[in-house]
Amino acid sequence: MAYDVAVVGGGVIGLAVAWRTAQRGLSVALVDPDPGSGASHASAGMLAPVSEVTYTEEPLLRLGLASLRLWPAFREELEEAGRQSLDHRSDGTLSVAYGPDDLAYLSDLADFEQALGLKVERLTGRECRAYEPMLSPLVRGGLLAGDDAWVNPRRVVRALLTAFSGVVVRGRATGLIRAGGAVTGVRTEGAVVAAETVVVAAGAWSPTLVPELPIRPVKGQILRLRGAPGFLTRCVRGTVHGSPAYLVPRGDGEITVGATVEELGFDGRVTAGGVYELLRDARELVPGVTELELAETTTGFRPGTPDNLPLIGFTEVKGLYVATGHHRGGVLMAPVTAEAVAAQLAGEGDGLGPCDPGRFA
Ligand code: GLY
Repeated sequence: MAYDVAVVGGGVIGLAVAWRTAQRGLSVALVDPDPGSGASHASAGMLAPVSEVTYTEEPLLRLGLASLRLWPAFREELEEAGRQSLDHRSDGTLSVAYGPDDLAYLSDLADFEQALGLKVERLTGRECRAYEPMLSPLVRGGLLAGDDAWVNPRRVVRALLTAFSGVVVRGRATGLIRAGGAVTGVRTEGAVVAAETVVVAAGAWSPTLVPELPIRPVKGQILRLRGAPGFLTRCVRGTVHGSPAYLVPRGDGEITVGATVEELGFDGRVTAGGVYELLRDARELVPGVTELELAETTTGFRPGTPDNLPLIGFTEVKGLYVATGHHRGGVLMAPVTAEAVAAQLAGEGDGLGPCDPGRFA
């Protein structure tokens, strides 16, 4: 039997695509040896297009904002279909500054964000600490992006696996099946999955199936600390020793501390230096973190692209579609990606123009 669609990759993007596509009545197989064990497992789950904005990346910002707007309905539907809470929180991100340089940077960023019509509030150090009493007394000012939100990505993956009504093939995809110049399925170590369309959503591993994709692994080391609920209310970010650091609080008291950004290929080691730098930077933002239990250290690989925008759409090869390269924003961009891909596979949509996978050809 041939499925309408085989999705390769059971991270948040592949699962969301599979879920939405099956909802449209197409027969869908999802291929992954261990769904949810890759970048989605490491991710902090930030839905933060405003506080993660970069000056030159307005198309990425627009895509992130479009997806952020979809998140409340996506979440409501997924919590019901997946039968669990996603620990979605929407108290915003507080970006903080210590010295005159940091303050000037945040002020310029606020001007840029306000010119784009984004909602940000400038705060004094005292106002920052009123919002988050655990912040360092050295914080001199900050910026609150009140619309930023976050979820627990591990719960998102579990909910998607429950909600997905198609078939999960637990095997590693070893290659695409081709016939007459078209892709007609995917091969795993133990099976052949025939499909009219194969969607490659394998994140940083996508080039193992489609070598011409301009995707590279961007390593991130991330920590999970265990504390009491209410230690922090918002996501807290800052630039410490020249690199961005963030703390993401969960409803159960966990604090996720991220993340390194390393161009080291598939080096999956958690290093002493990585853990040291994350804890050092987190302590400068919120000194009390040193009292918390270090519960977990994890490494993940962001799928980076040359312009940091994902690759989403049909390729020049008949039967081959890609939905990958979401770099730092896979969880954020899952709803907009899944809805666009499912619509296009059902013959109803035009895809996401700026993410055309052929743009680097
Ligand atoms: N979006 C957060 C990260 O990639 O570290």
